[in-house]
Amino acid sequence: MNLGAFLAAAKGEVEAALERILPPAGDPLSDAMRYSTLAGGKRLRPVLALAVHDVLGGSRSPRGEVTEAAAALELVHTYSLIHDDLPCMDDDALRRGKPTCHVVHGEAMALLAGDALQSLGFEILASRPWGAASAAPRAEAVLLLARAIGAGGMAGGQALDLAASGHGREGLRTAERLKEIHEKKTGRLLAASCELGAVLAGASVEKRDAAARFGDSLGVLFQIADDLLDVTATAAVLGKSVGKDEAQEKLTYVSVFGVEGAVAEREKTLERTLDRAGELEGSPGLLAALAEYAGHRDR
Ligand code: IPE
Ligand code: IPE
Ligand code: MG
Ligand code: MG
Ligand code: MG
Repeated sequence: MNLGAFLAAAKGEVEAALERILPPAGDPLSDAMRYSTLAGGKRLRPVLALAVHDVLGGSRSPRGEVTEAAAALELVHTYSLIHDDLPCMDDDALRRGKPTCHVVHGEAMALLAGDALQSLGFEILASRPWGAASAAPRAEAVLLLARAIGAGGMAGGQALDLAASGHGREGLRTAERLKEIHEKKTGRLLAASCELGAVLAGASVEKRDAAARFGDSLGVLFQIADDLLDVTATAAVLGKSVGKDEAQEKLTYVSVFGVEGAVAEREKTLERTLDRAGELEGSPGLLAALAEYAGHRDR
């Protein structure tokens, strides 16, 4: 299957799963949760989980449930975007081509929508049987996601991102710190997405580790591309405001290496990601195509 066909099919399944999972519209909190989650987006995290699941030979028979478990990643990701856009964080007004959650639903409801999406993600992972008799894979899934997004992962990376922003913090603005921020704030959730795909497929510990390594590298690649798009893309194509990183003096691959240097780092990271894809799928296939896409996307 080519990448375009896989992306379209997997995205469609994820959209349908999100509709099933989200609370119905009709109260302010549910409306805010639905507003941000159903606003579009690439759905890359669940798509990655499904791709790794398929590449590792996972069974498609409980596919609806496998897709719902993958869709839990999108709930958690959307939570992170809502909070990332809040006035106390990046203070962004545009997301997924629409005004941000707090602009439309107010700050308090945006905060709570993020909280509730995070809990719902864990609830889905913990409660879906995926056709398995044992609860062990569900506990594994909850554990790996919890580790990925907490103080040692995404939330920690976001804290370092804020600490490194703005004037007078030269000591924190090193290439090492930059790499740490990207690994944590973006890499860990992408690594968890790939690892979840392996867990859903019932893969061996070795394959799980290889999936996590692939996702780690792909996550950094994805965030380098995000840093580049902030200076090279338009808001119309990207669906979010551009030029914000420089305005807020963020520590990014562009601020440290310049555009050309960031492109070179991106290509190096893509090579590493492709090597790691090879550990999972042998000859270049779906995962290699997803790595190319993550690095060379235009939105
Ligand atoms: C944006 O994520 C935040 C980053 C980690 C760079 P995406 O670029 O995946 O955003 P959506 O989900 O497609 O809107
Ligand atoms: C966000 O990074 C990473 C998250 C954990 C949400 P950015 O702040 O660069 O993401 P965008 O550019 O606002 O999507
Ligand atoms: Mg941010
Ligand atoms: Mg942001
Ligand atoms: Mg960005």
